[in-house]
This record gives sequence, structure tokens and C-alpha cells, in this order.
Amino acid sequence: MHREDFPILKNDLIYFDNGATSLKPQRVVDAIVDYYTKYTANAHRGDYDNSIKVDEKYANSRKIIKDFIHAKSTKEIIFTSGTTDSLNRIVFGYFENQLQENDEVLVTVSEHASNLLPWFELEDKKGIKVRYIELDSNYEVTIENLKQAITPRTKVISLAHITNVIGDVRPIEEIIKMAHQNHILCVIDGAQSVPHLPIDVQKLDLDFLTFSGHKMCGPTGIGVLYVKEDLLPDLKPLTYGGGMNASFAPNGERLYHASPDLYEAGTQNIAGIIGLGEAVQYLEQLGMDRIHQYELELKEYAVKRMKEIPQITIYNEHSQSGIISFNYEGIFAQDLAIYLNRSHISIRSGSHCAKILNQEIGIKNTCRISFYFYNTKEEIDRMIEVLKNPHIYEEII
Ligand code: ALA
Repeated sequence: MHREDFPILKNDLIYFDNGATSLKPQRVVDAIVDYYTKYTANAHRGDYDNSIKVDEKYANSRKIIKDFIHAKSTKEIIFTSGTTDSLNRIVFGYFENQLQENDEVLVTVSEHASNLLPWFELEDKKGIKVRYIELDSNYEVTIENLKQAITPRTKVISLAHITNVIGDVRPIEEIIKMAHQNHILCVIDGAQSVPHLPIDVQKLDLDFLTFSGHKMCGPTGIGVLYVKEDLLPDLKPLTYGGGMNASFAPNGERLYHASPDLYEAGTQNIAGIIGLGEAVQYLEQLGMDRIHQYELELKEYAVKRMKEIPQITIYNEHSQSGIISFNYEGIFAQDLAIYLNRSHISIRSGSHCAKILNQEIGIKNTCRISFYFYNTKEEIDRMIEVLKNPHIYEEII
């Protein structure tokens, strides 16, 4: 789908590492270049034409993102540098002040480092407890296992919507419902889901959602933190400075702006914000439902073809996303990635920042294919051809 929009695909490249970062369509590149070549100015600080144009573009991007995730207000959309930054702001800007010693946070072993390390830090700092929801035999979260894990001390459930190795789509609607019935708040890491399927934060009654621009056709260094409006009064900024204050006096008296300005101190990543707005408009034109369905079709096709190769073990055949984690018998994951690269096929290998999942699946390193809408069945066929090479072992060793 829409391969012609991506200049990099004019090269001999099969890009199957979209879970790490996506490719960028020309119109996003153009939007960024236009800002740097035609109307560079800072935001929220100038009274001249270019500065006013920047303010309009900046506000418009926020509005585009608000509509994209169906938020109630633009106050709920805070620009950050990416999912990692967003998650850190939730943990240290909100929960550090709300949680007490021995309060429990539920996670799973398949979370990304960015959804575990901040909680571990808070465990050391405040004596909270990080607890794990047991995964089922497909490494997925079930409502039954979630129910088992909840105790009277559970205050937060912090989960990826789609995990980055197994690619399982968590039943977040039911999870959030159960959490709220038990007066528990939910943090949803949308890094691997928001780029790939439609999301409606109001319908889901989401408390916190995080995602990154660069995985959804946007630039690097820009991300979003969605916080439900009712929770904003208790979210403290982690950065103080220009742009977030209305006034301050020598005696330290100060008046801060409301959200979102409160959380966007200092000159922001203006080009990134404009680029992300452009990327989201582009995705909306393609249709998020269509993107999701197409990726499922690609996954199903790839799994079917990979099964023709008996040396391949797939770890997540049943997950409903465009992620496939696998290994090739007798070949170290990274060696296979390097081998595929010789045919200009890019995949990721390693632990994929989910470093404790290996205890669950019993394997330290895997190869990961992660699709996006511009991938094709022909590309999959090409990869299968390369993997079926009868001399693969000799060529790798
Ligand atoms: N979190 C990104 C990935 O899964 C970098 O590859």
C-alpha cells in the first residue's frame, strides 16, 4: 500500500523493522524541510508573521492528534520526546506523588524496558512493589490472570497495548474496566499499537496513553503523553523554565500556565511536532482500520510461508498484529539478521529491550519481523527465497 510515498523504498530495500522505527513519507519530510527553509521561528514567543505561523502549526498538530485518538480536549495532549519520556513523566510526575509504600503496580515480563525501569526506580525510591501478571501459554495476558494478580494494594496496571516481541494485542477495554471497578489507574504504552490500529481514548476510558512519532511515519524525538483531564491537576511537570510560567518574582512567587503549556518548558521540538501532525493526517487518510487489517493479512501470509521451512520456530503465531518473532535452528539470531541484510532485508534481532521476557520463553535472542502498510507479499516471498537457500549454514559460518 502506498509505497510510492516513501522515497527510501525506491532503493533496493526490504524493510521489516517497523517495530523499531517506521519509514517516512515524502510529505512528512517536506513538512519538516518547509519549517526549516520557509518559516523558521520559535513557538509561543514572537509577534511576527513566521512566529505566528509556527504557533498555528503547533496548535494544529495538537488538535490533529487529539482528534486522531479521540481525546476530549487538547489539554490532554502533551508533547514529549517519545514513549520513554512519556512513561517517565507518568511515573515520576504523577505516581511518585500519589503512591505510598507497599502500594502495588502490576506489569508483565513482556513489557519494554521503558515500562519497567521507571517503576523499578520508584520501587527503590518509595518502597512500592512491582508485581507481575502471569502470562498464559501464548505469553498473553488473560482477564482471569489479571483478576488473580489484583490485591487490595494494587493501585496501577501498567501495560503495553501491543507488546514489541510477542505482538499480542491486550484486551485493554476489559482490563481498564476491571481496573476502574477496583479503583486502579491504567497506564497504556501505545508505542506498538497507536501506529497500527484505531484508538479511542474516551471510549476505552483510558487514564494515560503514551506513543512515539517515529514509529508512525513521523520524525524521531517527538512523542505524545495523553492524560485524562481529571488526572491533570495531580500531574507535576518534571521540567521548569520558559514557556510554562505566566510570571515569577524575586521572592520565588510564581504562576504557572495550565496544561499543556505547563508540561512543555523550553523550546520544543517544533519541526517534530509539525512533522508528527503531517504524519497523523497521512495515516488518517489511509485509514487505521485498513492498515490493521492489511498487516494481519501480511502476518498470516508470512507465517504460512515461514512454516514451509522446518528449521524455523515461530514464537507468536497467534498474536493479532504485524509482529513475528522467530529463530532459525542452529543459527544465532544476530547472524541470521546479518545474513538477511546481505540481501537488503532489514529485520531486528536480540532481546528487543524486553530483557526479562526470555525467562518466560526460555530463549534469550530472537529475530523479529514487524510489518507496516507499505510492506508486500512479494517482499515476504523474497525473504522466504533467501531463507530457503540450501547453503544457508555454510554461508553464515
Ligand atoms: N522499542 C523499539 C523496538 O521494539 C525500539 O524495536
